[in-house]
Amino acid sequence: MRRPIIAGNWKMYKTPSETVGFLHDLAPMVTAASRVEIVVCPPFVDIAAAVDAARGTAIGIGAQDLFWLKEGAYTGEVSAPMLVAAGCRWVIVGHSERRQYFGETDESVLKKTAAAVEAGLTPIVCVGERLEEREGGQTERVLARQCSGGVCGLTPEQFARIVIAYEPVWAIGTGRTATPEMAAQAHHFLREQIGIRFGDEAAQACRILYGGSVKPDNIKNLMEQDDLDGALVGGASLDPVSFAAIVNV
Ligand code: 13P
Repeated sequence: MRRPIIAGNWKMYKTPSETVGFLHDLAPMVTAASRVEIVVCPPFVDIAAAVDAARGTAIGIGAQDLFWLKEGAYTGEVSAPMLVAAGCRWVIVGHSERRQYFGETDESVLKKTAAAVEAGLTPIVCVGERLEEREGGQTERVLARQCSGGVCGLTPEQFARIVIAYEPVWAIGTGRTATPEMAAQAHHFLREQIGIRFGDEAAQACRILYGGSVKPDNIKNLMEQDDLDGALVGGASLDPVSFAAIVNV
């Protein structure tokens, strides 16, 4: 059984005090959701406050990025052991905004993913096609390339400890969600790719989340799809009421 995950990616929103307020509001609204793993990924500067505010709840805290080396002269970077020491259990890797604006490649995604696993974090590794790629019929080619250049380079032991997020770039922040059928098709394809590299059992065990304009009113239809194991939520994760509504579905 793959336990569902609902993860919030706050992107560049909220201060430490806003983070504390959010978690105090969210925690009592999600106490009944024991079947789901709940994750909140705030900006780096909010992590300490988030870990403190989430203590004693079922809410796990994650970061939105990391660097693959442990320490050194890398101004502005944060390592996996530092995130662990700060109380993180999760980290998002290879988000399309990192690929688009900050030069993230499949190669850096692979290094970051391996570093996260080695430190004991659960990486949520993002893949997904851009609009012109979908419209040009390239979706599967792009997903296959992102897998083969990225997570397929992990060892089977490392792979067993990651989560994948399928986030079609054209659905992020646009209000244009993939239909449940489109999401299901992409998730099925990703599972096939994983199966080719790591075998059927690993493919069946891997959790694949959907991300892209997930809201309280579309989560139910998405979650009904066989290969869909939860969601990576952007905008709707910033409000405790809408995030709780998604968790509670
Ligand atoms: P939205 O839910 O705002 O579309 O963002 C999705 C996302 O990028 C999550 O990582």
